[in-house]
Amino acid sequence: MALLIKNALVDGNKVDIALEKNRISQIGKNLKGNFDEVIEADGLTALPAFIDMHTHLREPGFEYKEDIASGSAAAVAGGFSTVCCMPNTKPVTDNKYIVSYIVNRAKQVDLAKVYPIGAITLGLKGETMAEMGSMKEAGAIAMSDDGQPVTTAQMMRLALEYAKDYDLLLCSHCEEKSLINEGVVNEGENATRAGLKGIPSCAEDIMIAREIILAEMLDTKVHICHVSTASGVQLIREAKARGVKVSCETCPHYIAGTDELILDYNTASKVNPPLRTEKDRQAILKGLADGTIDVIATDHAPHHYEDKVVDFSLAANGISGLESAFSLSYTYLVDSGIVTLDKLVELMSKRPAELLGLESGKLVEGGLADITLVDLDKEYKIDAKNFKSKGKNTPFDGWKVKGKVMKTIVEGKVKYSV
Ligand code: DOR
Ligand code: ZN
Repeated sequence: MALLIKNALVDGNKVDIALEKNRISQIGKNLKGNFDEVIEADGLTALPAFIDMHTHLREPGFEYKEDIASGSAAAVAGGFSTVCCMPNTKPVTDNKYIVSYIVNRAKQVDLAKVYPIGAITLGLKGETMAEMGSMKEAGAIAMSDDGQPVTTAQMMRLALEYAKDYDLLLCSHCEEKSLINEGVVNEGENATRAGLKGIPSCAEDIMIAREIILAEMLDTKVHICHVSTASGVQLIREAKARGVKVSCETCPHYIAGTDELILDYNTASKVNPPLRTEKDRQAILKGLADGTIDVIATDHAPHHYEDKVVDFSLAANGISGLESAFSLSYTYLVDSGIVTLDKLVELMSKRPAELLGLESGKLVEGGLADITLVDLDKEYKIDAKNFKSKGKNTPFDGWKVKGKVMKTIVEGKVKYSV
């Protein structure tokens, strides 16, 4: 199968991109040859397709919220060629059989590339370590107890030592449970105004500090999930400066939203960690611009309508994020002049590939043909009811954004087209 993309913008130049089988064979002007299909890009910008290192696909067990088919469709609609799915499924993805199940099911679906993340501890209970080696053999790309913190420092220390031996990235959901105390939103002025119980930002920071100290002592890598606080960013900045092998991600909702969104009690804004203050948001933007934050990940957390149409304190945490990630990030980071488009590509494609040891994440001759075509001038309103994801839970429904995903090509095959 040979495919030609005509007149796409790559680094500001109008070029053709020739694809052969799963690879990019040539990038240049007026390419000629025998192609099975020609795509007229007509000035759309070609980017290396996005890689989401933090997705919840919910299968097995919670198919009423999302399944591998609907989640993969949402991924390619969002411009993602690749997603890494978190283990808080039912049963928990804490053994090779479930890892294999996800790998095989994703292959049948054949839309996005799906890499399971295995649980650090059995049942996400924090008590007994899961078998990292056999999960890695079955196709797990990293380890995490996401959704739950690894409560004790001793368990995290052991997990980091094992992960180092198996050369697996360990992704930590940082939440010191004793400080949560039934909180449901960020502790502060808006929580008080809304009459909702607060979660202090130090609940996140304390565990970020713990992971940094452990990684430093063990001289090993650790990845911090969904950073949302100004002081968390600062802890990571200082650790990086003294050579600690810490990496981190933030999410589009911490880039675009603050805890003001909870004032109307819309449970779509309920997420863990919670939306923080404008001061935190500004620190996230600075961290993205200065390289402290490595990656934008979605933490795509689809929920059923019924999980969200309840009292705020009872509603499920999470935002359905795959299909608005690029537009929100482009609007709030690039269009507003905080970072360049190149930097956004680093955050959404290049860096996640490096951290996970994937070959993709770049648009080069000979490289994998994972390409997203975007219309950077297109303004539109996010419309959750048209999401491919089963989860329509987003506080950004109806928001006007700029930059739209038009086509997603995964290893040489068109998997999504507007
Ligand atoms: O908001 C969240 N939702 N945060 C998490 O850590 C887990 C996720 C989920 O699985 O719904
Ligand atoms: Zn998490």
